[in-house]
This record gives sequence, C-alpha cells and structure tokens, in this order.
Amino acid sequence: MIRCGIVGYGFLGKRLASYLTRYKARGLALTILANSKGYLYSPTGFDSDSLPADIISHSGFRASNPVEVIGRGLVDLLVVLTPTNVYSGEPGLTYVREALKSGVDVVTADKGPLVVAFKELTSLAGSMGVSLCYEATVGGGIPIFSLARHSLRGDRILSIKGILNGTTNYILSRMHFEGLPLDLALQEAQMMGLAERDPSLDLEGIDSACKVVILANALLDLNKRLEDVKVKGITQVTSDAILAAKELGMTIKLVGSIEGGKLSVAPRLVRLNHPLCVHGSLNAIQFKLEILGDLTLIGRGAGESTLSALLSDIEWILAQKEASKGGR
Ligand SMILES: NC(=O)c1ccc[n+]([C@@H]2O[C@H](COP(=O)([O-])OP(=O)(O)OC[C@H]3O[C@@H](n4cnc5c(N)ncnc54)[C@H](OP(=O)(O)O)[C@@H]3O)[C@@H](O)[C@H]2O)c1
Repeated sequence: MIRCGIVGYGFLGKRLASYLTRYKARGLALTILANSKGYLYSPTGFDSDSLPADIISHSGFRASNPVEVIGRGLVDLLVVLTPTNVYSGEPGLTYVREALKSGVDVVTADKGPLVVAFKELTSLAGSMGVSLCYEATVGGGIPIFSLARHSLRGDRILSIKGILNGTTNYILSRMHFEGLPLDLALQEAQMMGLAERDPSLDLEGIDSACKVVILANALLDLNKRLEDVKVKGITQVTSDAILAAKELGMTIKLVGSIEGGKLSVAPRLVRLNHPLCVHGSLNAIQFKLEILGDLTLIGRGAGESTLSALLSDIEWILAQKEASKGGR
C-alpha cells in the first residue's frame, strides 16, 4: 500500500482528500492530513465517511510540526498544498525538500518552492530517484507540463506566451466589455472571490512572473529566478487605453512570455481574434514549436479544475511505482 499525506487541508486539500479516499482499491491509502498546527494520522487510510471537515477539532489531532510525518517515515507520497510565498518559498519549501531528501515522492500546487529553488529540488528528486510533480502550479487544471513532456517530446519549444493569471484577465475583460475602470472591476472580482483582499501580487504581475519562471526552468531548461523576469503589471491600464485598443480590433491582456531566453510579463495589445485572447478568468498558453508551429491550450486556471492536474500527477506517480515493481 502506498501511504499518501496531504499537507495543507484547505480549499484544494479537502477536495483532493475526498477523491483520494476512492484510491484504496488501487493501492493508495490517504494516511495523513496536516495543517500548520499539526496532523491527523490514520494507519489504514481515511475513508469517505471518516474524512473530517476540520482536522484540529478531531480527537486524534496531534499538535506538532507536520514535517515530523516525513521524519517518522509515515508517508511514501506527499501532496503539498500550502499557501504560496514566492519570496521565501515557505512553508512549502521545507516540506518538499525534506520529503525528497527522505525518498518520498512529491506533488505540489504551491508555486513558492519551485520559484525559489527549482534546480535544487529537481536535482534532489533526480538524485533520490523520486518524482517531483507540479502540474497544478501553472494554469490550474490545464495539462501544460505533461503535454509538453509527453506529446511534444519529439519537437522543440521555441517560445512560450500565456495569459497566466485569471484575476487580472477577469479585470481586463470587464474593462473591455463593460468599460469599467480598473478599481471597479477589481472590487467586482473581490466580491466574486476571484481576487484576494490584497490583490497586489496579481495586479503587479508577480503571480504571472512566477509562472513564467516555472515554465522557463521546467520546459526550456533555463535557470531563471523571479528577479530575471522583466515585470509590469496592469495597475496603469486605463479604460481609455482599452477603448482605443478596441477601436483597432484589439484589447489589452497581461501576457507572460519566454522568448530568446528573455522572460517578461507586461500588458500587451492582443488581436481580438488571436487564440490567446481569452476572456473572464480563463487562462491560455501558446507554445511555438519548431515542427508543429503554434499550439494554444485554453482552460480554467484555478478552482476545482486544479484537482484534475493534482490527480494526473498522482496517477503518474502510481504508474511509475507500478512500472518499477514490474521491472524488479
Ligand atoms: N485554489 C486554487 O484554485 C489553486 C490553484 C492552483 C494553485 N493553488 C495553490 O495551491 C496551494 C493551496 O491552495 P488552497 O486554495 O487550497 O489554499 P488554502 O485554502 O488557503 O489552504 C491552505 C492550507 O494550508 C494550511 N497551512 C498553512 N500554513 C501551513 C503550514 N506551515 N504547514 C502546513 N499547512 C499549512 C492552511 O491551514 P491553517 O492555516 O489553518 O493551518 C490551509 O489548510 C496554494 O499554494 C495555492 O497558491 C491553488
């Protein structure tokens, strides 16, 4: 039985846990649920009816540093769903690093550890012979990394462009279609739960820049950090500028791009009939490939759809473990 732990029992953690209780018959038991205060352990694995809504108030809750579950050898696969800090990478970085060091496979949706320490973590995973999967960190459920690594492996990616932040795309879309000023479109996004109370990381382009860093390092084998991205957010975009673009059959989008080894995020004019011109909170990513030419993927970049990416990573790890058993 593969013992799986979830660190970060919030929006994604709770929803993922509910899917993972169905995996027992497939040889995966969900044995650990952890948050910042401690963890809950079930040696035989949680079932759908034993899954708690809240772990702290459970009688079996153990108040301690959840990193202990790695040291005590309680998990074989750790899913890290902690809040993102793009400057320190913590708390996710410590969980990911310690898990990999202990030979535990890792799946994460937390961008922080990858933005801060991509090369260190991927090299560590390689040297320990374990997997580090992060499909959910960019584009939510859109299968960017798996598609690029599997279906595009015979081709060569020349450049990547994307609308990588749903919050700013929602705001720019409302400015385009309704003529709203940025502050009103932002208030609307906050009321709908699409923007954080402090939306600065989104508005200033930092969230998109982090995704650009992960794409560059993962798919173009670059060794970039957040400070290597030339970033301009959308705070200076006015309704007048969007109206002027509209009159030319264009709009303004926050575009992240990797071209000729240079990384940038900036508001750009995009033709209304361009494949990247998606609206609302959608994300889009366009690869320019040597043989295939342009390939654009469009999908929901956050919310429940992210579970599709997390489960795809978990399935990949299960398949790897199955294959290594067969090879023995
Ligand atoms: N939600 C999405 O649609 C989405 C999409 C793509 C990627 N992501 C990323 O996925 C991650 C999780 O997102 P989410 O929406 O599920 O966040 P969330 O609802 O805020 O949940 C985060 C969880 O992490 C726990 N936590 C905080 N500090 C911790 C620590 N030191 N150790 C262990 N657990 C800790 C929190 O619990 P307590 O604070 O109560 O302890 C909470 O249960 C984030 O990095 C996010 O950026 C989210």
